[in-house]
Amino acid sequence: MVILVVGGGGREHAIIKKLKESKKTEKIYALPGNGGIAADAECVPIKATDIDGIVDFAKQNKVDFAVVAPDDPLVLGCVDRLEALGIPCFGPRKNAAIIEGSKVFSKNLMKKYGIPTAASETFSSAEKAIAYLKEAAYPTVIKADGLALGKGVVIAQSFEEAEAAVKEIMCDKVFGASGNEILIEEFLVGPEISVLAFADGKTVVPMVSSMDHKRAKDNDEGLNTGGMGTVAPNPYYTEEVAKECMEKIFLPTMAAMNAEGRPFSGCLYFGLMLTKNGPKVIEYNCRFGDPETQVVLPLLKSDLLEIMLAVSQGRLAEQTVEFKEGAACCVVLASDGYPKKYASGYEITLPNEGENEYVYIAGAKKEDGVLKTSGGRVLGAVKTACCLEKAIEGAYALAEKIHFENAYMRRDIGKRALAAKKQS
Ligand code: AMP
Ligand code: GLY
Repeated sequence: MVILVVGGGGREHAIIKKLKESKKTEKIYALPGNGGIAADAECVPIKATDIDGIVDFAKQNKVDFAVVAPDDPLVLGCVDRLEALGIPCFGPRKNAAIIEGSKVFSKNLMKKYGIPTAASETFSSAEKAIAYLKEAAYPTVIKADGLALGKGVVIAQSFEEAEAAVKEIMCDKVFGASGNEILIEEFLVGPEISVLAFADGKTVVPMVSSMDHKRAKDNDEGLNTGGMGTVAPNPYYTEEVAKECMEKIFLPTMAAMNAEGRPFSGCLYFGLMLTKNGPKVIEYNCRFGDPETQVVLPLLKSDLLEIMLAVSQGRLAEQTVEFKEGAACCVVLASDGYPKKYASGYEITLPNEGENEYVYIAGAKKEDGVLKTSGGRVLGAVKTACCLEKAIEGAYALAEKIHFENAYMRRDIGKRALAAKKQS
């Protein structure tokens, strides 16, 4: 099969490497891919948000199947457009991608169908929001409605911080139309769990759970980032928690989307917080997480392409989805300064991947045959092993063998997970 993968980060590299393991895969195009993905797929410089460009390319290149990985093209209706050409896709249609595209939509969905989440109020007027914030308890959480490159959530410690955030989002429009409405939400406390799930509108099959590390610095200090590392499985996601999530969150979400006439097909990402009152939804994403995918897919035993085809054909219930025992750890190497200003263009030297080692490239380009840094998050060093301790050790050992001038990594990926494991 000729497969088109839309996207060009570490997540897409992990998806592509896994798809390559399938016997059915003949060729993979990555749009736009990146300098590292070029080793595993033919990269074509068409942006993931250029839906017309993607559709034209698919028309001209006999694509049998498309995987749309990032949020923007999904929310823009890339799947609908490709399906209209007769190309089957893995990924939700526009009317289901709204579960990530609008936080107001997803909050209303959860309220309507009794899915546990943080209490919240919606505002379309900055004045009314600020009046409400005068009486609010702190910390409080402010969220822009639409996509905001992962930066649309502010945890305000005081009224002053909250007011400034509302003004930036609603008046200065730092996220554009994404800030036309905001949510002001109760601050929840507890460990966070990411669960990615295959879903075909009828059946939902959760993958191995994972834990992201969103802050830039050790001990969860510093600015919020796209994710500095991950481990899987997440030790807080016990069998009991998994059962509760299935009953109170996963199945009700699928049913709710169906009842709204928006069946969800693709990868549904549940961002959960395990509070004293049980698991609650922090956010939904309509796609694989990044860097969660980099630890989840290496643990997948079954054929990813077969699963994706089954999802797109609505026969997920008959499909085997198995994960390996053991654990995985991903340490992200970023350009020093990320998520703020950073320099790039430095040569990257990579070791050969050993057994159960994977290097997924996110922000790199090829220049005259040389791989150079081109982004904030440059790559992920991943190791799978029999246990979490060994996976962490292995991922750091691999990371140490990778060099570029301004490389920065957190030194404590997996530390909290290990401590939690020891306690249980
Ligand atoms: P998001 O961009 O939606 O993933 O949110 C970024 C981060 O903000 C999450 O990973 C949480 O750590 C935090 N967060 C979001 N909503 C809440 C909430 N209601 N209470 C506490 N933390 C939250
Ligand atoms: N790692 C969080 C996300 O993909 O949104």
